[in-house]
Amino acid sequence: MNALITGASSGIGRALAVEFARSGYGLLLVARDLPRLQAVATECRERFGVEVEIFPQDVGAPDSTLRVGHWIRSLRKPINVLVNNAGFGVHGDFAFTDLDREIEMVNTHITAMLGLSKLVLPEMIGRGAGGIINICSLYSFLPAPQQAVYAATKGFMLSFSEALSDELKWSGLTVTAVCPGTVNTEFRTRMGVYSKKPSGMSPERVARTAVHAFQAEKSLCIPGFLNQLLALLAKFLPRSVVPGLVRVANRMRRLNAGAKPRQS
Ligand SMILES: NC(=O)c1ccc[n+]([C@@H]2O[C@H](COP(=O)([O-])OP(=O)(O)OC[C@H]3O[C@@H](n4cnc5c(N)ncnc54)[C@H](OP(=O)(O)O)[C@@H]3O)[C@@H](O)[C@H]2O)c1
Repeated sequence: MNALITGASSGIGRALAVEFARSGYGLLLVARDLPRLQAVATECRERFGVEVEIFPQDVGAPDSTLRVGHWIRSLRKPINVLVNNAGFGVHGDFAFTDLDREIEMVNTHITAMLGLSKLVLPEMIGRGAGGIINICSLYSFLPAPQQAVYAATKGFMLSFSEALSDELKWSGLTVTAVCPGTVNTEFRTRMGVYSKKPSGMSPERVARTAVHAFQAEKSLCIPGFLNQLLALLAKFLPRSVVPGLVRVANRMRRLNAGAKPRQS
């Protein structure tokens, strides 16, 4: 059994690699940073004795699915689980953020997920087992001011995952959308948002919860009771008040500190 994981060089992706390796899966790991991918591969081989292949690749690049496809075929290993995890955020008022970066984000979160899913699904369906884990976000349920494009891509990922899960019910495959709240990774610092002390759930706990949910054939996984409550609340509140509440909550959590000031 093999798991193909994007964004496996750090944070949740790295923790997922360790979790799948612990369960005996061989790993095919993709991210841009080769030395960090090598370090994750070495750790998984040494700790769990599994086979690990790595491929340094920007999954948001135009020909990325094609390249990953060639790589997988050259390895001649079946992909039993695909994890679409690679991602990043862009923070700031949309009128003033960098459009190129946002398009890169759409390609990394959405285009790569669609391309890689199409790449692996026919063989998975033929085998009648395995499936896909999509790392979405609590923001999949919440329009988020100052992360408007990020939250919209995560909403797309959740909607796509849930529909695909239904389409594949007959096939024996599982599609699990994982929607974490704040996780203690490099995600926020990479986005230029600094908080005074590290906060959020550990990536290891998110990975454990995600793998258990996938193995239990769940279509939706929201790690943490408070996050489950927030997702539920978002369903019942009027849509018009949710963005304002997210803005206030982020201000209270000082998550906007360090980000580019709003231009006037
Ligand atoms: N941290 C949170 O609070 C949080 C909450 C909800 C959801 N998430 C989601 O969780 C996922 C993982 O994020 P994280 O928190 O673990 O952050 P992270 O520590 O910054 O890890 C992000 C991973 O994605 C990879 N990546 C980014 N852009 C890529 C690209 N274009 N091509 C290939 N790999 C790329 C990075 O590797 P390289 O730099 O080596 O390419 C890295 O391995 C993301 O999809 C994020 O949206 C995070």
